[in-house]
Amino acid sequence: MLIRDEIARDIPAIGRVVTEAMRMLAQASGTEAGIVEKLRAEGALALSLVAEDEGGVIGYLAASPARIGAQPGWGLIGPVAVLPSRHSQGVGTALMTEAIRRLRRTCRGAALVGDPGYYGRFGFRAFPGLGVTGCPPEAVQALPFDGSEPCGELIHHPAFGLDQQE
Ligand SMILES: CC(C)(COP(=O)(O)OP(=O)(O)OC[C@H]1O[C@@H](n2cnc3c(N)ncnc32)[C@H](O)[C@@H]1OP(=O)(O)O)[C@@H](O)C(=O)NCCC(=O)NCCS
Repeated sequence: MLIRDEIARDIPAIGRVVTEAMRMLAQASGTEAGIVEKLRAEGALALSLVAEDEGGVIGYLAASPARIGAQPGWGLIGPVAVLPSRHSQGVGTALMTEAIRRLRRTCRGAALVGDPGYYGRFGFRAFPGLGVTGCPPEAVQALPFDGSEPCGELIHHPAFGLDQQE
């Protein structure tokens, strides 16, 4: 398996992988593939990583610039998606490991909204006062690279379509 940056011909396969993976997720909105397209169109994909094997694109991870409160410099990971037929083979771990490695070079930390049962293994955790309006606080997690204690609303790129109070 290879983790690499997206290239133009991956774009249809990325849409399929994201749509198929998110069907498994009760809390998915069904708009995740569209969010990736909007981020791409706005030049806001800080990372757009595909996992590929001989069968083609089997996994995908996006990251985009985010703020926590007034503080810029956070890399927001999501969506993360692996084809259901390829779950539990380490694809998600490989994507997350590479994303964290790259974000360390450019960001003060990484943040995401997701299941703590999965993302805790990469060092993500909730922080007092860190949140996203309308999301359970335990799902809003960060991995500061500089030891800081993130506090405030995790402000997503407008492509996510959230109604966020700054
Ligand atoms: C979450 C996801 C990306 C993980 O990808 P993956 O390639 O299966 O992950 P890995 O193989 O690296 O890790 C699998 C392990 O994570 C566990 N895991 C997967 N989702 C989990 C969750 N929500 N909570 C707790 N553990 C989880 C699996 O049980 C497995 O455990 P094991 O190592 O003890 O067998 C994938 O399951 C997926 O695409 N799910 C649907 C979309 C989604 O939930 N995206 C994340 C939110 S944006």
